[in-house]
Amino acid sequence: MTSNEMAVEDIEERLRADLPRDLYEHIARTRVRAVEIAIPCDVDPEKCGLAALLHDCCRHFSDPWLLNLAVEFCIVVSDVERDKPVLLHGPVGAEMARRNFGVTDEEVLDAIRYHTTGRAGMSIVGQVVYLADKTEPGKQAIVSKVRSRSELRSAVLGQVDGLVLRCVKNAHPIHPLSIEMRNWLLEARAED
Ligand SMILES: [Fe+2]
Ligand SMILES: [Fe+2]
Repeated sequence: MTSNEMAVEDIEERLRADLPRDLYEHIARTRVRAVEIAIPCDVDPEKCGLAALLHDCCRHFSDPWLLNLAVEFCIVVSDVERDKPVLLHGPVGAEMARRNFGVTDEEVLDAIRYHTTGRAGMSIVGQVVYLADKTEPGKQAIVSKVRSRSELRSAVLGQVDGLVLRCVKNAHPIHPLSIEMRNWLLEARAED
C-alpha cells in the first residue's frame, strides 16, 4: 500500500457516510456481485471488489459539477457527454478514486472509468465490474451464473446489445465507446 492509499474498510466507511443511501446500497450490492462473478472467472476478487466499491463514487454529482470536474481533471469531454453529463461520472470517478482515495492500480481505475460506456479491449476486471453494475439484484431480478471468462464476455455482450436497443428505441445517442466495445466483443467471440 502506498502512503496515500486508503484501506478498503476506510473507503467503505467514507462512502457510507458521504453517499445517498440508495446509491451506497447499489454500490454494496454491485461489490458483492462483482466478487461473485470474479471467482469462477479466475480474476482477482479484491481488485474487482475495490473497483465496484468506487465505481459510482461521483454518481450523485450534478451535471454542472461533473462538467466542472472534467475540466479540472483535464478529461476530454465528447459531444455525447456534453449532451448527457451523467456519462462523465465514470471518468470523473476514476480521477476521484486516484486523488481522494489513493487508488493507484490502473486496472481498477480503468474499470471505474469505463463502467458505464465500456470500451474495446476492456480488461477482465473492467468486464466484471461492467456486468456486476448492471446485474446486481437491485437492478435485475433473475441473474444467470457466469462460470467462465467466455461466459463473462457473452454476458457483457448481452448487456451492450440491450443498451443499444434501448438507445435506438428511445432515440438516444449511443456512446461511441459502447459501439467499439460491442464490435470488439463480437470479434473476440468469432475467434473463440
Ligand atoms: Fe455508474
Ligand atoms: Fe452503478
